[in-house]
Amino acid sequence: MHARITDLLRADSAPESEIILCGWVRTRRDSKAFSFLEINDGSCLAGLQVVIDANRPGYDTISAATTGASVRLTGRIIPSPGKGQRWEMQASSLEVLGSADESYPLQKKGHTPEFLRTIAHLRPRTNLFGAVFRTRSRLALAVHRFFEQRGFFHAHTPIITTSDCEGAGEMFRVTTLDTDLAARAHEDFFKRQAFLTVSGQLEGETMACALGRIYTFGPTFRAENSHTPRHAAEFWMIEPEAAFLDLEGDINLAEDFVRFLIETMLGECAEDLAFFNRFIDKGLTERLQASAASTFVRMPYTEAIEILQRSGREFEYPVEWGLALQAEHERFLTEEHCKAPVTVHDYPASIKPFYMRRNDDERTAAAMDLLVPGIGELIGGAQREERLPVLEENFKHHGISKEDYQWYLDLRRYGTVPHAGFGLGFERLLMFLTGVRNIRDVIPFPRTAGNAGTLSKA
Ligand code: 4AD
Ligand code: MG
Repeated sequence: MHARITDLLRADSAPESEIILCGWVRTRRDSKAFSFLEINDGSCLAGLQVVIDANRPGYDTISAATTGASVRLTGRIIPSPGKGQRWEMQASSLEVLGSADESYPLQKKGHTPEFLRTIAHLRPRTNLFGAVFRTRSRLALAVHRFFEQRGFFHAHTPIITTSDCEGAGEMFRVTTLDTDLAARAHEDFFKRQAFLTVSGQLEGETMACALGRIYTFGPTFRAENSHTPRHAAEFWMIEPEAAFLDLEGDINLAEDFVRFLIETMLGECAEDLAFFNRFIDKGLTERLQASAASTFVRMPYTEAIEILQRSGREFEYPVEWGLALQAEHERFLTEEHCKAPVTVHDYPASIKPFYMRRNDDERTAAAMDLLVPGIGELIGGAQREERLPVLEENFKHHGISKEDYQWYLDLRRYGTVPHAGFGLGFERLLMFLTGVRNIRDVIPFPRTAGNAGTLSKA
């Protein structure tokens, strides 16, 4: 196979013999006797400089090697006399595989993210999106490594489901009918109404209550019509679930997880992180280092409300015991009050889903949200209600039909155990770690209200 630029640049010595280099031309400069090419192959942010003499095979096609064209080069890697790079290629032949004429949209640097969203098929070739999608891949692997090290099994929960985990009525329907969906549900493909999952948690609980510790990592879907920079209709969630775990253990796991992911970013994505820090968010590296070094804060919801009320801040949304925390409240707590990641726990039961464990005070639930600077809510989780009668009461409260959830109640009928878990939104994590401010720019093909094609509207 041909060489990758990342391997060449990282090597202590140059390969002895000629190598093959494949990639896309970023820039070209010609002089009489030779040309300089800057080649990027996507394996890392940096490109490789190539020098090719005018008498080499293929040089007669050099004029086709314009910005965006794909090329195959053979040659030797030699120490570079130029500044800022250790190695360069002295090419012995050039082949232009695919030309790119002057309509290629990425000729010039400095396009806005909004414009680049309209060319989602080409934007991975830019420095920014190359860095984002390499980071996305590395972090996904780190997620698996974290849970593997702690004895969690990877469970594959269904994407098509009949249950509404969060009970918020934000589900996309899956159907082959074209009219009267509810009335004709018995004729439908699944003989009943089916939806895209909003969370793998409920099925995840069945696996945890058998294998002990599991996690899911897959796409989830929400038909939330919220046009914010941190909501997408399709996003990836990581949901660990563990038997014999209580809320405190759940918070410990969430904190360890977030710290591990920050350290992975600092340690394994250094080149891309330096780029984000320079061009996207100048405070990023410092903020991540500070978060990694800080003690994460924990506070009950009741205390969070008191802090917000005493802050003297004018918030857009009201702050009152019993109301949900909004992004502005969450960000105040983590960015200004605590200056560290903070977990708020024991929320009013009335604003949380049916599956959360009721606390002894009868008005709060064993819920937790982990908030991080720049984002707000990154993780939502809870200890689950494992007591059958209390869960049945919760069902009544939330208007949920027992018949539809017999299987879920069975977990409480047969060998019930305390158990807990959480969900981390993978794109929110990437926004936190890259400084990218819009969720549309950490997803290769983002789906948001009004946008489902290959090319998004900005
Ligand atoms: O807080 P949520 O709704 O929790 C659950 O779904 C639980 N069933 C998880 C569990 O306990 N297993 O969602 C979890 C996380 C949020 O904290 C947020 O990071 C992310 O998922 N999230 C979204 N990310 C992008 N776009 C959206 N529309 C999101 N909705 C939630
Ligand atoms: Mg939540």
